[in-house]
Amino acid sequence: MLKQVTTGSTPQQVWQRLLRNEPLFILDVRNRDEFERWRVEGPRSVPMLNVPYFELLDLEGEEEDVTEAVMRGVRAQLMEQLPHERPILAVCAEGNTSNYVAEGLRRLGFDAVNMEGGMEAWGNFYAWHAVAQTERFSLYQVVRPARGCLSHVLVSEHRAAVFDPARHLDTYHELAAAVGARIEMVLDTHLHADHLSGGPALGQGDHIPYHLHPYDAIHPMDMLPARIAYRPLEAGQTFRVGSAEVKVLHFPGHTLGMVAFLIEDRYLLSGDSLFLESIARPDLGGKAEAWAPLLYESLMRMAELPDETLVLPAHFSDIAAGDENGVFHATLGELKQRNPGLLKLAEGEAAFCDYILANLPEFPPAYVEIKRANAGLARPDERAAQELELGKNICAVGKAPERASG
Ligand SMILES: [Fe+2]
Repeated sequence: MLKQVTTGSTPQQVWQRLLRNEPLFILDVRNRDEFERWRVEGPRSVPMLNVPYFELLDLEGEEEDVTEAVMRGVRAQLMEQLPHERPILAVCAEGNTSNYVAEGLRRLGFDAVNMEGGMEAWGNFYAWHAVAQTERFSLYQVVRPARGCLSHVLVSEHRAAVFDPARHLDTYHELAAAVGARIEMVLDTHLHADHLSGGPALGQGDHIPYHLHPYDAIHPMDMLPARIAYRPLEAGQTFRVGSAEVKVLHFPGHTLGMVAFLIEDRYLLSGDSLFLESIARPDLGGKAEAWAPLLYESLMRMAELPDETLVLPAHFSDIAAGDENGVFHATLGELKQRNPGLLKLAEGEAAFCDYILANLPEFPPAYVEIKRANAGLARPDERAAQELELGKNICAVGKAPERASG
């Protein structure tokens, strides 16, 4: 019988493999700067090698078969560094050149597959996992592993509310269809700076209301009012999705209109106020000194919620913070013990603000434009959207920007 040879893996298959912690080795053939900026990552670390394609390949004339050239390059440079005991995933920008690399490796006897669609597909890949499933409601977390973005979907009595959707809306429609629900509302915790929100488009496309706090419907830099249809959220407001209750809590600091959604008094969609490893940065509106004390006051109030409150942020900084099911969560009690930002609250407002202001990561210039787009003040096409969202997001306080998110 012929052995079935697998030649490609989809991002979904790669993510499942990473979650299951199955053996894998990644050979990334993009340029070094691209690799440094971002790469395939999973909850557990994976051995990885970056060898730019043009260093590996030395074509002997235009006629030469590319796979032959790959084989020659690998024989000359990489035989000692590539494993035989685990599968190799070849990765490039769009999945074309890495296809030749995987083919060359297979011909040399390695168990190699190509990542279909390359980093572009990985960047746009989403997975969803259940956070809670009770008789009355279910709560799902949607993860975009490449960017560290998290959104949430609450389902009860065949109705769904989508919180902080990213701009690729198919995932949310697929999820709703899979659980037999109709999306009836969409909400953003705040006017996002690090990624393009899918909220207004989902609202418009599905003819359902899009909700945002009115303070975030003004661009903080140029003070222009948003040009999107939205329903204003209010502190203390409650609403129902099916039979599940959702409370709106106002926690300004990261933005002035930052809210959190408390579902059934237990699940806190904390947006970008509180992350698992860090806390929000207050400088993305250009007013760090003025907004840092607001963040202090907000986190002090948040810390008064019961310790068993399950915190579900809108981003993660470190993909290793996900559990074995790929869900990013922690109880407030746990975070009070280990989250450096929450621990800092005990030192008082002045020390807290000093700490925040001393630990601000670089300000990504694209964030001003992303906020404009999310407020409907700019309309990037697909190419511009891809560029705005390139790489990981940096919304949290922290000294190592490449590990910070939000
Ligand atoms: Fe944010």
